[in-house]
Amino acid sequence: MARKKIIAGNWKMNMTPSQAVELVNTLKPLVVNDDVDVVFCVPAIDIIPAMEAAKGTNIHIGAENMYFEEKGAYTGEISPAMLVDAGVKYVIIGHSERREYFAETDETVNKKVLKAFEHGITPIVCCGETLTQREQGVTIDFVRQQIKIAFLNVSAEQAASAVIAYEPIWAIGTGKVATTEQAEEVCKAIRECIAEIYDEATAAAIRVQYGGSVSASNAAELFAQDDIDGGLVGGASLKPDFGQIVCYNK
Ligand code: 13P
Repeated sequence: MARKKIIAGNWKMNMTPSQAVELVNTLKPLVVNDDVDVVFCVPAIDIIPAMEAAKGTNIHIGAENMYFEEKGAYTGEISPAMLVDAGVKYVIIGHSERREYFAETDETVNKKVLKAFEHGITPIVCCGETLTQREQGVTIDFVRQQIKIAFLNVSAEQAASAVIAYEPIWAIGTGKVATTEQAEEVCKAIRECIAEIYDEATAAAIRVQYGGSVSASNAAELFAQDDIDGGLVGGASLKPDFGQIVCYNK
């Protein structure tokens, strides 16, 4: 069965609650595409108002992060049960910005991935190399290691429903998009890695996104690649351009 594309916005630390409602209202008529699962991953405080504004539309509201404990003395963190109660079905795990600024590691990413599945939330698991790693020729080795650790103790059935976002760090927010060949090469290698860990059926089911300076002008070519099942979009997800990205095949 063909994989359904999944195109997600990552709002990062942008949009106050009232701005979030405004943005959802602006984008909702523009992001209608039955061929695509559409997700807006928004700051925690925006989840409930954005969810309300998106009611009755095809937009899923997701989270940008989640903690790996159930509850308790973890000041400032958001629990999986809080997300579930708010109606969240997707959560970004291990974005490179969280790894860089908030000390997330492959091990904490794995704990969060396991916890998300435990609560029925689909993780969007992020991976991707630095410019130095690319220049040193270790991109695929590095990404394979990130994936292998992120999926430790994850069952094949869970993995089949997961989303992986390949985001080369040097392409994030820089306007420097990976070439279609570079993006496809790594997304393909990620799928092969999943086949090694699990089996061909799991690899054929899992969805792999590309992220890093995705725009209205490069989305169609990127998403046409065999192993690229959509995108994780930062800057362009805050603008009407996101409508063109979601409707890349129209
Ligand atoms: P940009 O689309 O702004 O490059 O951000 C990509 C990203 O980090 C999405 O998670």
